[in-house]
Amino acid sequence: MTAEAVIQAWDRADPTAIHPLRQVSEEAYWESGKVQADMLATVIPDGAKVMDFGCGDGRVAIPMAALGYEVTAVDSSQRMLDRITERTPDVTTVQADADGMASHLGRRRMDAVYALAVLIHHSYTDCLHIISRLRAATKLGGILILDWPVSGQPAEADSWIGVTTWSAQQQTKACAAIGLESVDSALPWGVYRAVRAAT
Ligand SMILES: C[S@@+](CC[C@H](N)C(=O)[O-])C[C@H]1O[C@@H](n2cnc3c(N)ncnc32)[C@H](O)[C@@H]1O
Repeated sequence: MTAEAVIQAWDRADPTAIHPLRQVSEEAYWESGKVQADMLATVIPDGAKVMDFGCGDGRVAIPMAALGYEVTAVDSSQRMLDRITERTPDVTTVQADADGMASHLGRRRMDAVYALAVLIHHSYTDCLHIISRLRAATKLGGILILDWPVSGQPAEADSWIGVTTWSAQQQTKACAAIGLESVDSALPWGVYRAVRAAT
């Protein structure tokens, strides 16, 4: 699927599509965001300027702001962002895709960027494009946390709700080209330091 098709489908999606726990209860859904914010806080320094890329309706961005982070929540769907603003004024929202986000930021750089359940829905080409934009939005030495799954049988998602998986070799090559150094962590997502790309 093209990035445009994925973006359009998410903009029209029922809010229950965001996370399986939303079909259990709203309480379980928001609690999962708090738990994941606490996990992110184990690798992102206190008070950092962070970007939640593909933030949805703020499941993780809102608890990150409550932990004291300066959060910029970016999503292609204004409907998602409106739901954040209804809940809290503490999160800056930006309606954009990866390219729009880059022009919104200009020369400003984030201490940390995370993208949870976003890259997984995109093709290999679009995912690499988004990650290179996220890397460019991160200061040198900053942290990126990417939900970017590896599989022994990598395959591209076949629908907007599907999951694209990668081989470890594909990721190693992409990291060198984009400027990401893998960081050991106990988190269930890839954690990277922003470094200069290999020439
Ligand atoms: C599965 S939801 C995840 C929301 C949130 N990250 C979470 O974990 O609760 C995917 C979100 O990513 C957004 N999204 C998907 N592709 C995007 C893109 N290329 N640029 C910006 N936002 C995107 C969708 O609008 C949707 O809100």
